[in-house]
Amino acid sequence: MTQRITKAVIPAAGLGTRFLPATKAMPKEMLPVVDKPAIQYVVEEAVAAGLTDVLVVTGRNKNALENHFDRVAELEATLARKGDTVKLEKVNESTGLADMHYVRQGDPLGLGHAVSRARMHVGDEPFAVLLGDDLIDARDELLTKMLAEQVERDASIVALLEVDPDSIHLYGAAAVEATGDPDVVRVTGLVEKPAKEDAPSNYAVIGRYVLKPEVFGVLARTAPGKGGEIQLTDALMTMAEDVEGTGGVYGVVFRGRRYDTGDKLDYIKAVIQLAADRDDLGTDLKTWLAEYTSTFEAD
Ligand code: G1P
Repeated sequence: MTQRITKAVIPAAGLGTRFLPATKAMPKEMLPVVDKPAIQYVVEEAVAAGLTDVLVVTGRNKNALENHFDRVAELEATLARKGDTVKLEKVNESTGLADMHYVRQGDPLGLGHAVSRARMHVGDEPFAVLLGDDLIDARDELLTKMLAEQVERDASIVALLEVDPDSIHLYGAAAVEATGDPDVVRVTGLVEKPAKEDAPSNYAVIGRYVLKPEVFGVLARTAPGKGGEIQLTDALMTMAEDVEGTGGVYGVVFRGRRYDTGDKLDYIKAVIQLAADRDDLGTDLKTWLAEYTSTFEAD
């Protein structure tokens, strides 16, 4: 009998140096994407897939994250007194969303190390990992499919996106072979951030994983890799070989909408794309954007 997966882990201990000075005193996960902090989208995605127990791996300077998912009595009372139910609802959106837990990473030794900090909380169950830099459009199912594949195959699952070969050096890259399902591949190898000529394919690992708990033991034995950090990709490579009976690794190929908020240009694009889709902002924003971009040719 396989039990239902309920736990999500969100590594959020990074320093966010690409966004300095905005991230000098504020976690990068709190940067607003339109009007919501990036991490709220990620928690909402986890909850929509049925993962209501969320562990955030944090570090120094991250108190705002915890505050965001907690009650804020004074603000709530003020809005209630004014009868401003619309704003009150917005305040409360993140409060009751999930059962939130926090653990500090301590030493910044890499993504694999951050995930290994979840061991006590997760215990002996499969669990999901969601990286905050990747936002998946709520209309495009990914995590639900990954969770179903995990149960079906009793393996660990990564999310794969076909990227331009010129961008593969920014990701973990997967060597894959076909299965009977066109949306699922078996992962036979993984390389963290390879040079274009060394990449086994243009299948990039994007920031969603559903992992078997055996990953913790493997991570504990994984030596520092690329950048001197303990890489989750390296641990998954070991699991893909299935030498220790860890069930292997499969990739769900994602063909939907993904917004990268990990660097400045992509972040700006994400804000514009998501705002353009919104009922309250889209029409005016698109009208303005069309006018604005029409001035570019004259430059
Ligand atoms: C991490 C992983 C990488 C993966 C990427 C997805 O890298 O190490 O394998 O492809 O997330 O966003 P980071 O972007 O944190 O450097």
